[in-house]
Parts: sequence; structure tokens; C-alpha cells
Amino acid sequence: MKIAIINGPNLNLLGIREPEIYGNKTFEAFFEALKTEFKTVELIYFQSNHEGALIDKIQELGFSFDGIILNAGAYTHTSIAIADAISAITTPVVEVHLSNVFKREEFRHHSYISPVAIGTIGGFGLQSYTLAIQSFI
Ligand code: DQA
Repeated sequence: MKIAIINGPNLNLLGIREPEIYGNKTFEAFFEALKTEFKTVELIYFQSNHEGALIDKIQELGFSFDGIILNAGAYTHTSIAIADAISAITTPVVEVHLSNVFKREEFRHHSYISPVAIGTIGGFGLQSYTLAIQSFI
């Protein structure tokens, strides 16, 4: 089983960025722990701050991987292009957020990703990603 985790803008700053919202751990450290926890799953991780690079990666993996876990960051709330890429591929996508976006500003309440994802997991910090992997296995 091949599963990709794709993180969007500013998620390269996890551990540093607003730790009261997003926690103290870097994604790289968490990813190492995930690989140990899910030894039977082939996990890959990709992060970009660029919308087009995220779309390229979704297209590249979206016909061969078994699942994509996508935290599109702020593009969640703006990107029709990422939503179209998800509609175009055959790999199912689970939308993930660290924070509970519904507890936050109004502009975070709308997601272009949710209608094209198989489901959404948010509000559990890094554990949201663990739950997303479990949803595929
Ligand atoms: C986020 C929530 C988004 O609203 C925000 O723009 C992010 C992170 C989350 O994981 O909680 O960058 O996707």
C-alpha cells in the first residue's frame, strides 16, 4: 500500500509556526515516527509552498498511489485548481488539518477540498495524519 502525505504552504514551519495552534514538533520528526508505526505502508512525504507544485505532485501520484493525505494549508480555502486536480485523479484523497478550522476564523470554515475528498479529519494536531492513514488500511 502506497500512501503520500502532501502538505501545502507554511507547513514546512511546523514546530516553529504558532506553536499554540500547530504544536512544537517538526513534520520531519513526526514523519520518521509514522514510518516506524506503519512499517507495512510505503509512505512518502512532499511539502511545497507553491500551488502549482502541489498540483504537479497530485497529478504525478494520483494514478498509482492508494491514497493521498492532503493538508493544503490556506489553499484549502482558496484553490479551485487543487480541487480540480483532485477531481481529475483516481487516487482517493483524505483532507487533513492540524487545527479545528471550525473553531477559528470564518474564512477557514469553507473548504474547496472537502467536496472532492473522501473525508476530512481535523482538530487532532499531528494525530489527524495518523487517523488519515488508518482510514486507508
Ligand atoms: C491548516 C488550517 C488552515 O486554515 C491554515 O491556513 C493552515 C493550516 C491546519 O492544518 O490546521 O495553514 O490547514
